[in-house]
Amino acid sequence: PTGRNVYGFDPYRVPSAFAQLEGRARAEQLIQRHVGDGNPFPETVAMVLWGTDNMKSEGTPLAQALALMGAVPRFDAVGRLAGARLVPLAQLGRPRVDVVVTLSGIFRDLLPLQVKLLAEAALLAAGADEPEAMNFVRKHALATMREMGVDLETAALRVFSNADGAYGSNVNLLVETGQWQEQDELADQFVKRKCFAYGVKKAPVAMPDLMKRALATASLSFQNIDSVELGATDIDQYVESLGGMNRVIAAAKGDDSTPVYLGDHTGAAGKIRTLDEQVSLESRTRLLNPKWYEAQLAVGYEGARNIAGHVVTTFGWSATGAKGAVPEWVYAEIGNVFVLDAEMRERLAKANPNAASAIANRLLEANDRGYWQPDEQTLAALREAAADLEDRLEGVVAA
Ligand code: BEZ
Ligand code: MG
Repeated sequence: PTGRNVYGFDPYRVPSAFAQLEGRARAEQLIQRHVGDGNPFPETVAMVLWGTDNMKSEGTPLAQALALMGAVPRFDAVGRLAGARLVPLAQLGRPRVDVVVTLSGIFRDLLPLQVKLLAEAALLAAGADEPEAMNFVRKHALATMREMGVDLETAALRVFSNADGAYGSNVNLLVETGQWQEQDELADQFVKRKCFAYGVKKAPVAMPDLMKRALATASLSFQNIDSVELGATDIDQYVESLGGMNRVIAAAKGDDSTPVYLGDHTGAAGKIRTLDEQVSLESRTRLLNPKWYEAQLAVGYEGARNIAGHVVTTFGWSATGAKGAVPEWVYAEIGNVFVLDAEMRERLAKANPNAASAIANRLLEANDRGYWQPDEQTLAALREAAADLEDRLEGVVAA
């Protein structure tokens, strides 16, 4: 309203000096957590970048991607973003990590200069005359050139997103509707939507095989959590992006054991959590926390819908994460709290019968798909409750 505050940020100054400092710290913190968990130094980090959290933080997550590669932005004489520059290996003090990024459509639309910046950093790293053991971007690009018969510029493509004008992988929609059999179908869906490679000059080109090949080198996958209000189980887009990408990694490697990490930088000191740690934390503090679900129920129809939404998204991490991404106790407690407790079942069904039924059916789906094995008695009680809730939906019994 003052007429002075007419833009949110200047895209020519992203990532800012602050974002570069913070991005560097996050990059080292991620490497340390991974190595601290007993894994070798990561050759490739597969990273999801969103537009909104980069806008809010002056480009911190994208600066983290650059820092992993050992690159920094280059600014011209008047301080406008002009491209990427490599930090010399001697100064970096560790190998350049290969970074395969999948961008949301929003990032692609809002930060075109930074899309190019990431692509240029990867191309510079791939072309650097450095030993392969100290530069994993180059190591992987040279192998791709040999094995796929492509030039360096193609082999160095590391930035993938949707086709122009398209958004999202839709993996979340597959999960929600249950219209899938094998987990590899989720991977195929992600590749189909997100395989458009963004390079330094050409228009994006669909490169599904190159994307799968790049992701097959992933040592881990990672996404920053953006805010205290929206975690990995609050909205389904983390499943859609990080979960979907993890499915591609698992399918391409033929191995489901690649770690998935989330960076919680909502407090002063950042924290890296594994996917199962994050799901456990959010289950305890949100979905299974009486303070949280009572507040939802107080809202009525929409609150009950939101509870059911959290159940689906939690389940989505079983579908897209590795086995055990959602610990079995989470499913058991969801069943105890929302379905097997007759009074709570009644409250939910009164507030929103579709949501009550959806929760019971999703738990049965989790069992059908092998994510959770309750004992026979519990399973029978769940089935009975689900049938009862369905009868109510169909008006078979008087409510
Ligand atoms: C984004 O800002 O890129 C984004 C926000 C919400 C969901 C997915 C992507
Ligand atoms: Mg403004």
